[in-house]
Amino acid sequence: MNPRNQGRLENANGIGEVGNASCGDIMKIYLFIKDSVIEDVAFETFGCGAAVASSSIATELIKGKTIDEAWELSNKAVMEALDGLPPQKIHCSVLAEEAIHAAINDYLKRSDLPPREE
Ligand code: FES
Repeated sequence: MNPRNQGRLENANGIGEVGNASCGDIMKIYLFIKDSVIEDVAFETFGCGAAVASSSIATELIKGKTIDEAWELSNKAVMEALDGLPPQKIHCSVLAEEAIHAAINDYLKRSDLPPREE
């Protein structure tokens, strides 16, 4: 009901956008990374309530973390932080994991570093 870190991040240096073809929902994660630490993070999600909640909690969980720690954030951890999601909404939490990976890889690409494998 109270999404955190919603909106754009004008100084983002890593941006990841992913979508789910079956429901059509889209999630975009903005990262500002300095010295391998996620100093700021924001999201824009066009999707269901579970996708918005997953984005919100995922951004809270990775704020202040290193890239390595953020990469390890699983959709399972996102679901646990939300006290669970119904089975038909599990893919919404997967979007958060995928969007964070896409944003980290965008940052690595911009920094002339090799992207990580899923
Ligand atoms: Fe597709 Fe939630 S229904 S992201």
